[in-house]
Amino acid sequence: AAIKKYQFDVVVKNVSRLCHAKPIVTINGRFPGPTIYAREGDRVIINVTNYAQYNMSIHWHGLKQFRNGWADGPAYITQCPIKSGSSYSYDFNITGQRGTLWWHAHILWLRATVYGAIVIMPKEGVLYPFPQPHQEAELLLGEWWNEDVEAVENQGNMLGLPPNMSDAHTINGKPGPLFPCSDKHTYALEVEWGKTYLLRIINAALNDELFFTVAGHNMTVVEIDAVYCKPFTTDAILITPGQTTNVLLQANQAPGRYFIAARSFMDAPVPVDNKTATAILQYKGVPTTVLPLLPNLPAPNDTNFASKYLQKLKSLNTPQYPAKVPLTTDRHLFYTIGLGMNPCPNCLNGTKLTASLNNITFVMPKIGLLQAHYFNIKGVFRLDFPDKPMTAFNYTGAPLTANLGTSLGTRLTKLAYNSTVELVLQDTNLLTVESHPFHLHGYNFFVVGQGIGNFDPNIDPAKFNLVDPPERNTVGVPTGGWTAIRFRADNPGVWFMHCHLEVHTTWGLKMAFVVENGDGPDQTILPPPKDLPPC
Ligand code: C2O
Repeated sequence: AAIKKYQFDVVVKNVSRLCHAKPIVTINGRFPGPTIYAREGDRVIINVTNYAQYNMSIHWHGLKQFRNGWADGPAYITQCPIKSGSSYSYDFNITGQRGTLWWHAHILWLRATVYGAIVIMPKEGVLYPFPQPHQEAELLLGEWWNEDVEAVENQGNMLGLPPNMSDAHTINGKPGPLFPCSDKHTYALEVEWGKTYLLRIINAALNDELFFTVAGHNMTVVEIDAVYCKPFTTDAILITPGQTTNVLLQANQAPGRYFIAARSFMDAPVPVDNKTATAILQYKGVPTTVLPLLPNLPAPNDTNFASKYLQKLKSLNTPQYPAKVPLTTDRHLFYTIGLGMNPCPNCLNGTKLTASLNNITFVMPKIGLLQAHYFNIKGVFRLDFPDKPMTAFNYTGAPLTANLGTSLGTRLTKLAYNSTVELVLQDTNLLTVESHPFHLHGYNFFVVGQGIGNFDPNIDPAKFNLVDPPERNTVGVPTGGWTAIRFRADNPGVWFMHCHLEVHTTWGLKMAFVVENGDGPDQTILPPPKDLPPC
């Protein structure tokens, strides 16, 4: 195993897209930021030095950070921010993981421009469990606002209204030639006929679940969220913010130019999507004057495609890569997801949009929860997050006006070390319906079941897949439906769980688990590093 070192300078840079120039926060002046390359088993040290006037904090999305929440990164959850003029080294080992993950700012909405790929190669001498590609490429899907992103975020906070949607989707930071002033801002992937490519696709968008396709070509899905899956062929993929998907693409079509495209999957009634990002799959030797073949994406509201696609996702589950699904569970949690309205004296209408789990809107603490837990600092959080809603109701059939107000609190749930946990996330129709990509820090989990309507504890568990369910770190909870996940709480620490739609996180759709220490020598939280940012 090697030690991989990176220096990340947080600097503001002027960038222009869609005929608008604006200063954006970047790492080393790059947008998207640099890729972290490592191998399974490596130690990675990333020293972040903040030269910008914003507080910063970076999360290594999907890395388990075993016993080492200090390197996880969410601001006020595992650390206080890296202030302007200071540095912090994220120092972690990559154990038992290989594949595509990503990193992003985990404070305010700065991840709009502060993000990049993490590529973890298998150990030296270990091959992929699928045909070895000739070449690999990372495709980061994102969103671009012409306005300052912090101003957009504040619309949500100050006015109590939904913030403006982005102006374009992007592929590797570029919207592509369908947008004005964007010919230069088009990503092109050059391929040679007859060769196989591994595409590492990352949804770094703030608020949009996306369909992704390559015109004229099929893709074979081989990995999701850095876990190998049973390969299957498809002409489009569905990917929520936070998720990653690796596909094999064979350059086996007539040499030419083909659009690569990403646009929103919207199962809620929303304005027309005119933000489709495109890039070009360019066969070597074909003149760039040739018009690219147009993509054939599923319709923005194609829930049928979405549910069929999700049913195809299964763990590889071979002796070498077994799916270690907990067959029994010690703890049953049932959380409702609600969007609603709370009073807000300073807001335009006197009310403010809120989001909640079990009717609790999470309030960010002033110091890191992990510090508060580790050093036993009282009064920062309470360990009384309810295991189920206070009152049962018809989750997907309740009137829109029911249950609009939520209670505020920094309330967490304690999980016993090594206990097995089942969590059912149930969407509700309160106020609006929208699907929610839930991300759990510090863990992968198994998606054992999913359904539309109200979860039925008497019927649905019998249908769970406990053999080869997909293992991942971020999962969509379908609109008006539910998702059941299982995991073993074997990573002591404080671990954030939240909707990866940034607008919903801002509104409070988040909570955290405190996983207790075990009794063994390797079962306790590691001591904090010396340079941990002070609160
Ligand atoms: Cu990718 Cu808590 O986030």
